[in-house]
Amino acid sequence: MTLNGKTAVVTGASSGIGEATARLLAREGCNVALAARREDRLKSLAAQLGEGALAVPTDVTDPAACEELVSRAVERFGSVDVLVANAGLGLYGSIPDGDPEDWRRMFEVNVLGVLYTTRAAVRHMLERGAGDVVIVSSLSGRRVPGADGTVYAATKHALTAVAEGLRMDVSGRGVRVINVEPGLVRTEFPESSHGNADRYYAERDHSPLEAEDVAAAIVYAVGQPPRVSLNEVVVRPTEQLK
Ligand SMILES: NC(=O)c1ccc[n+]([C@@H]2O[C@H](COP(=O)([O-])OP(=O)(O)OC[C@H]3O[C@@H](n4cnc5c(N)ncnc54)[C@H](OP(=O)(O)O)[C@@H]3O)[C@@H](O)[C@H]2O)c1
Repeated sequence: MTLNGKTAVVTGASSGIGEATARLLAREGCNVALAARREDRLKSLAAQLGEGALAVPTDVTDPAACEELVSRAVERFGSVDVLVANAGLGLYGSIPDGDPEDWRRMFEVNVLGVLYTTRAAVRHMLERGAGDVVIVSSLSGRRVPGADGTVYAATKHALTAVAEGLRMDVSGRGVRVINVEPGLVRTEFPESSHGNADRYYAERDHSPLEAEDVAAAIVYAVGQPPRVSLNEVVVRPTEQLK
């Protein structure tokens, strides 16, 4: 199915997987509404992508801002065909030693942020009887990576429920739900917990995926013909054991 002329809203578009996905969708001919908090990065990306890109500074923990994001995309491009709910963060720490403020932030961004953006986009999609909701979860939505990743994994397990429940909610109404679960990917993601990302990746026993690899999986899934609903996409580095 061609993506040319469609409109995608991408959250977390200021770096990593979101930025790579926005770039690839734009290359496929999509208009893209770019959402995240770092306005300078969004503006610079929008300038590189040209006429079909709109920077919409958005904090996904604010439900009104998520409504505004979808409204602005519709106003500018006429519709929203694809939502890539990708914004997220990982703040690692065990339960005994962890910081409850970190837990609150992760649940706010990783779970509530996905719910707020999804609600806004899906209402619009249901009115039109068409659309794709892509949720960028993680392999940590399927297993707990280690004791210091419990709460991050809890947020991503919550997305497994969100994706499956949403799929049933919109079944038969033209909207597809795609839960994408990447393994290790080279982005700025480790910086919040581990400081230097390069050192973090160098210390792993396998190489990470590149953000473009996940973007390609997302574009493959949304490019399927309307009768095909690719609901779960696990994409891990070939050498990643679990
Ligand atoms: N990298 C990995 O190994 C990996 C593996 C599996 C899954 N994932 C998932 O992939 C997604 C993207 O992560 P990434 O690896 O691309 O990391 P990243 O480069 O750090 O990107 C995270 C994005 O989320 C945005 N964000 C954070 N808080 C936000 C908020 N309150 N409102 C709006 N945007 C917010 C950031 O933008 P601003 O700071 O500008 O707001 C940034 O664009 C996340 O959901 C992550 O859990 C990553």
